[in-house]
Amino acid sequence: GRVGVLYGGRSAEREVSKMSGSGVLQALRSKGVDAHPFDPAERSLGELQAEKFDRVFIALHGRYGEDGTLQGALEQMGLPYTGPGVMASSIAMDKIMTKRIWLAHGLPTPRFAVLDAKSTTREQLRTVPDELGLPLMLKAPHEGSTIGIAKVNGYSDVQAGFDLCARYDDVVLAEEFIRGRELTVPVIGSGRDARALPVIEIRAPEGNYDYQHKYFTDDTKYLCPAPVSEELTQRLQELAVQAFHAVGCRGWSRVDFMLREKDGQAEPYLLEINTSPGMTSHSLVPMAAKALGLSYEDLCCEILQLAAL
Ligand code: DAL
Ligand code: MG
Repeated sequence: GRVGVLYGGRSAEREVSKMSGSGVLQALRSKGVDAHPFDPAERSLGELQAEKFDRVFIALHGRYGEDGTLQGALEQMGLPYTGPGVMASSIAMDKIMTKRIWLAHGLPTPRFAVLDAKSTTREQLRTVPDELGLPLMLKAPHEGSTIGIAKVNGYSDVQAGFDLCARYDDVVLAEEFIRGRELTVPVIGSGRDARALPVIEIRAPEGNYDYQHKYFTDDTKYLCPAPVSEELTQRLQELAVQAFHAVGCRGWSRVDFMLREKDGQAEPYLLEINTSPGMTSHSLVPMAAKALGLSYEDLCCEILQLAAL
């Protein structure tokens, strides 16, 4: 049947989504799928319905694409879509809600505090490092692609980092900084069939894995499968699948970790789950799939087959 590939959109990650979506569109077409582009920022939901698609591949990132709002509209239209449903999408778009759910499931995530973007005073901000230590992370809880994130190294940077994050959201997440290795694990499948793909390690220059490095430079190294023990690989993959189910995900997602290594012990911490992960040429899920011998094209077809309502 006819497949719509939804990309572009109105979020801060619009440009990333265009890269993801054009890759997905081309891949599906190369497999003989009757795929058509659709940009919800340029065309209305009425036009989407008029396209009479049989299913849609969501290659939108961030607000109005990954956050459950579009998923709700697609439910109402009866149009099956890729990736998690309404509730899981909206939980995952909120880094604070996600952490609360993981904690309730006994899953490890860095310690945190929630700060009101408007009313938090300079004096209150000064107490945050006392509680969470330094360095610490400040994050706008509803953004992706490292937008609205600040690493605070000293007391004197707290205000500037907070001001940056407060531009994006009503609240700011302050999180303990986990010094260690940055890892990510894709999960594909629904219900009992959900399985983790190989672990990827991200080695950015000076630990700067920011928006620019993610998509526009080649100086970040990716190691896949990540050079960690068989035992730790299994533990990370199990945690990723548990994190996926705790939030209620289906279809596919990507779970981001920090790994602290202390006295020969490895302590993984869950940071966030991305329910519409990047599918650009620099992106991680395609890299993990490739390590298993699953091509980008076959990966796209598998995700599409898992489309549901
Ligand atoms: N938010 C970006 C697209 C990712 O998680 O891959
Ligand atoms: Mg993200």
